[in-house]
Amino acid sequence: MGRFFKQTIHDVNLRGLTVLVRVDYNVPLSATGGIASDLRIRASLPTLRYLLEQRCKIVLMSHLGRPKGADPTYSLRPVARRLAELLGRSVQFVDSCVGDQLRQAVRHMAAGDVLMLENLRFYDEESRDDMVFARAIARAVRPDYFVQDGFAVVHRAHASTHAITLYVPGLAGDLLVHEYTALTAAMSRPARPLVAIIGGVKIADKIALIERLIDKADTILIGGAMANTFLAYRGHRMGHSTVEPDQEQVLAAIYHRAAGKVGDEQVDQFLRLPSDVAVALSPEASGDRHEVSVDGIGEHEMALDIGAQTMAQFASVIASAKTVIWNGPLGYSTNPLFARGSARIAEAIVQNHGVTSIIGGGDTAEFVLRWDGHDGKQFSHISTGGGASLELMSGKKLPGVESLLDAHGLK
Ligand code: 3PG
Repeated sequence: MGRFFKQTIHDVNLRGLTVLVRVDYNVPLSATGGIASDLRIRASLPTLRYLLEQRCKIVLMSHLGRPKGADPTYSLRPVARRLAELLGRSVQFVDSCVGDQLRQAVRHMAAGDVLMLENLRFYDEESRDDMVFARAIARAVRPDYFVQDGFAVVHRAHASTHAITLYVPGLAGDLLVHEYTALTAAMSRPARPLVAIIGGVKIADKIALIERLIDKADTILIGGAMANTFLAYRGHRMGHSTVEPDQEQVLAAIYHRAAGKVGDEQVDQFLRLPSDVAVALSPEASGDRHEVSVDGIGEHEMALDIGAQTMAQFASVIASAKTVIWNGPLGYSTNPLFARGSARIAEAIVQNHGVTSIIGGGDTAEFVLRWDGHDGKQFSHISTGGGASLELMSGKKLPGVESLLDAHGLK
């Protein structure tokens, strides 16, 4: 692996220093307020263990959810407890991000101590990328370095991802480097064939990714509610299915771009839509699964998953892939009845032993981790970032990465 384009925690001597580490512990919460998935906490451990080896004083900061003001439902205290279990050492918690109490707590830290701040989004200034707020954090903590390891939040220009780097020199942590490298390598120098699987609901959210994949991928498989919008555009009657309105121009541009690459005759082979779907009257349906061809969807029915024929077709494309990029479930996968398409795709990926598989974050990562009995190890890379992985794979620059120190000398 070549050198990362930003300075990393391995490029400078951190021995005994105070480091302010931005992690993304924006974890899904269960109905009872517990941590529903600790993927993001576990993903931060390599960086934290390295910093502990260096005998650093580690001050962690994160956001959780989108609270309006200081809402205790979104306190990071339970996350600090979970981190302490995973690290096997105590994690001190301070219920603010600025001020005297924090200053005192940091002053009393010893080498190898870990301290976590309260939810950054309890302060409106955080999302405004407020420089005064960032400076107040820096003044309370007095860190030698800022370490960005919250890959999932680097697409946001917030006080803790951007403004903070105006006051503290920023380094990339291991998770950030690992994610960035895996996702950009799959897009820019993939082993071929590169097969992209795109699902989820909204085309609008993924238009930049789809355009880039048209340029980069060898085949694109479309599923999920997004496929309904494609199918409706191609003239199929979709009954009561979720179809995104006003997408005709966007889809015309997508097909134009695809035809420009592979020619009109090949376009449906290149941009593959489902040929059959599982239908029901509602996404909450239970009982038997009913599948029909995409030309046989009833007036009151909703397409909620890809059908068996499509699963087989998609699986055979995946079987000969050398790189697979998967972003978005292929059906309404929170209902097990309509999770079969996504499960079949996951199975096809792990059955292809030579493939490099990149799973986009958010819903796809959660689905794959639920499906996989091996903690995701059957896949090459499961991203912790939803929006961040989407933006990175779409070719966008990420403010939380760009603001770190350049690898070739201080900015
Ligand atoms: C995410 O979960 O995608 C990140 O933590 C960013 O959260 P946000 O969308 O609320 O900014």
